[in-house]
Amino acid sequence: MEPLLQIQLQTYQNRVNQALETLFKQIGEQQPNTPSRLIEAIQYATLNSGKRLRPALIYAIGEALRIPLSHLDAAACAIELMHSYSLVHDDLPAMDNDELRRGQPTCHIQYDEATAILVGDAQQTLAFQILSEDPYVNDTHKIQLIKQLSQASGLGGMIGGQMIDIQSEGLLPELSNLKTMHLMKTGALIKAALLMGACQSQEYDKLTDHITSFGNAIGLAFQVQDDILDIESDTQTLGKPQGSDLQANKSTYPKLLGLEPAKKYRDELMKDALKTLQKLDFNTTFLESLTHYIVQRKH
Ligand code: IPE
Ligand code: IPE
Ligand code: MG
Ligand code: MG
Ligand code: MG
Repeated sequence: MEPLLQIQLQTYQNRVNQALETLFKQIGEQQPNTPSRLIEAIQYATLNSGKRLRPALIYAIGEALRIPLSHLDAAACAIELMHSYSLVHDDLPAMDNDELRRGQPTCHIQYDEATAILVGDAQQTLAFQILSEDPYVNDTHKIQLIKQLSQASGLGGMIGGQMIDIQSEGLLPELSNLKTMHLMKTGALIKAALLMGACQSQEYDKLTDHITSFGNAIGLAFQVQDDILDIESDTQTLGKPQGSDLQANKSTYPKLLGLEPAKKYRDELMKDALKTLQKLDFNTTFLESLTHYIVQRKH
């Protein structure tokens, strides 16, 4: 990524990290009866070296559509909380059973399983609490944001996709079913980030179709690259256990297609995404670099 764009990404990462820190500080003050162990554990699972891609997408598209960053903070925090929750639960022994996440012991290892389950539950409810209490966004847009986030993370999105993932262990599903699974478990939240970042714009209705196509393409490419990295990268670089998919006999693109065809597919998705971006009539320079980043990233 070009140095200037790298700085822009860092600015967005810092911004959401700061907003999340402030949020946890407020919770500690406003809700003194919440057990400190829970507040500590939720911070452990949220304030860490996560890449903050979903908040960056919200800020990037929102800023390109001239929405003030202050109007995007709640959505950025909410989606990162939702995503971080999905990781805490994804790592649990009953799911992927992984012991390393974002370069540190997973939440259930550092604390315990019951705490990790409650941390995920709390991250999820907090996401909706932040959206509903935000002082900047108007009520109509708040409802829209809540709807977008709940649809993307719920039965027809992330959670449904996670169920398919678990049910597909040890099987060789049809390619179309694998695509559906990836679009649901990972693509839905990535697409939602774009829609949530754009929905306060007056241009929103006329942009929705192209944003949706772009979101599906980068969302799917993101998970295909995740599958590839599970094979090609190493635990240190990933900050999570390399080979986790093989060990759990997961259904992945490299498993179904082979490694090289999976890479080819990922690159095709990137090209589709870039083509769709050209149809949008606002400045998409940074979204372009994020698209390249998604497929070139090493962790
Ligand atoms: C990991 O997501 C889980 C997937 C959906 C593939 P990220 O790669 O965005 O994880 P963090 O947030 O940077 O840790
Ligand atoms: C990620 O799938 C999907 C969600 C967390 C919703 P993975 O199970 O492949 O993610 P990692 O590789 O553990 O980050
Ligand atoms: Mg998983
Ligand atoms: Mg996993
Ligand atoms: Mg993975």
